[in-house]
Amino acid sequence: MKPLIAGNWKMNGLAASIAQIESLIAKFDGAVPDDREVVICPPATLVATMATQFSDEAIQIGGQDCHANTNGAHTGDISAAMLSDAGAAFVIVGHSERRADHGENDAIVKAKAKAVLLAGLTPIICVGETEADRKAGRALDIVGMQLDGSVPDTEDEIVIAYEPVWAIGTGLTPTIEDIAEMHNFIRSKVSQGTRLLYGGSVKAKNAEEILAVANVNGALVGGASLQAEDFYPIVMAAPGGS
Ligand code: PGA
Repeated sequence: MKPLIAGNWKMNGLAASIAQIESLIAKFDGAVPDDREVVICPPATLVATMATQFSDEAIQIGGQDCHANTNGAHTGDISAAMLSDAGAAFVIVGHSERRADHGENDAIVKAKAKAVLLAGLTPIICVGETEADRKAGRALDIVGMQLDGSVPDTEDEIVIAYEPVWAIGTGLTPTIEDIAEMHNFIRSKVSQGTRLLYGGSVKAKNAEEILAVANVNGALVGGASLQAEDFYPIVMAAPGGS
């Protein structure tokens, strides 16, 4: 399976930040090696420009969220069809920051994932337990419920990102054993071809160890995706696939 390394820029990035992708491409010697895939999810303002500019270098572009409807009276929202029109290939749905800041529950996340599929794009569906869930020994139960509630029943390609809420932006990560246990559990619930990403404080220094875990098929990277010099070693730490 080809590993997928996705960068989630969150609410960061101005036109000047496109230079980071140019410098990433220079580090790749012109294009991403074909034994791995790279997706950058910039803020919506940069999706069209980046998708146009980098269409030849194998850098794929994704949105960070979308509305469940295709169009209509939803001021400030963006649809999967619009992201597709702008050149995106992926859309993150159900990120814990959306679940927490915008009250998105599993049903909403599932509706968004279906909208992404309807637009012909690939959803990256995020799940993950809180620190309290983990301490209470409920991590597998919570993630199992999130998977049941937010992953549509489909034959189309989807990507699942396991992101423990307490590991996002904190510098903390689960133990390798805990990552392995969770990814084996998620694998038991989804089809063999579905790529499972780990996310939460992935950095150059821990990427190789995490990406070597069975059933970890890539990473969803926040803070360390903003600068080419931080992101490049993470992309290259993934074992190549086909
Ligand atoms: P982080 O964020 O890498 O900054 O922890 C990951 C994410 O939220 O996708």
